[in-house]
Amino acid sequence: LMTAVAAAALTAGANGAMAACDDGEIVIKFSHVTNTDKHPKGIAASLLQERVNEEMDGKACMEVYPNSTLYNDDQVLEAMLNGDVQMAAPSLSKFEQFTKVFRIFDLPFMFVNMDAVDQFQNSETGQAMKESMVRRGLLGLGFWHNGMKQMSANKPLEVPGDAAGLKFRVQPSEVLKAQFEALDASPQPMAFSEVYGALQTGVVDGQENTWSNIYGQKFFEVQDGITETNHGVLDYMVVTSADWWDSLPDDVREQLGTIVDEVTADRNAAIAEVDAENRQAVLDAGATIRELSPEQREAWVEAMKPVWEQFTDDVGQENIDAAQAINS
Ligand code: LMR
Repeated sequence: LMTAVAAAALTAGANGAMAACDDGEIVIKFSHVTNTDKHPKGIAASLLQERVNEEMDGKACMEVYPNSTLYNDDQVLEAMLNGDVQMAAPSLSKFEQFTKVFRIFDLPFMFVNMDAVDQFQNSETGQAMKESMVRRGLLGLGFWHNGMKQMSANKPLEVPGDAAGLKFRVQPSEVLKAQFEALDASPQPMAFSEVYGALQTGVVDGQENTWSNIYGQKFFEVQDGITETNHGVLDYMVVTSADWWDSLPDDVREQLGTIVDEVTADRNAAIAEVDAENRQAVLDAGATIRELSPEQREAWVEAMKPVWEQFTDDVGQENIDAAQAINS
């Protein structure tokens, strides 16, 4: 009988070049929940794996487990603290139990586009966030981009009132719950791997996610269409266990850190292209994309932006001001 880990390793092997780890190498397991093909995180994780296995051969090796084959996001951070996995890149919404400053990224209409998100993350405030969870055992190594979120349901969404009364899947985040409550909709936190089935069976009516996740998980197949709201951001933090990181020999830590930094810079620079490719793939698959007129968009802003007030204490007014200064 195959163990779950062995089965996951086979799946990972089928999806990318998974080098077998040799005796004596430091094993780095990287667990994530998305697909690998065309996906910003899937591509970045595969590149990281390739580079570690090539450049650190004899010292360290990486095994990437995509598609929730090893852990869901609600298990992976615990697993990391237990030493069962060494790296992951959960979305910023998934750090709810560890830090509240990340809530700024979930606030609707906080960032006008991914350039603004990138600038904020690379500011002193953003970079300090990588160390905001160290006392809870987690160290951030870098932000990885995915993109702006779009909204969909089993009926057309044009004005905010169209969402009223519907159930929407959300990531486990108080901000995202409040966002849908502001629309008089009902938020349902759920693991990423369960969303397609929940949409298909009507457990939920709608969802919000990026083009790559909408395409990668084929949500468009079981939704009426996608409304291009760009109302929020979904980004990642590459994290590791602070204890594990500290335990590495200096040269290994340094080389690994450099590779992570380079992969981060490379893939973040390519995000607009990957995002556009996924949007196009959704269109090519025959799905309807609804664009909003400026008036319609303003109505969504008005309906959702009041959520900021509920979380100002968590994220800090000065951080909101810094983000807004970048937008303008
Ligand atoms: C989600 O749960 O919708 C996303 O965070 C999944 C992902 O990793 O992009």
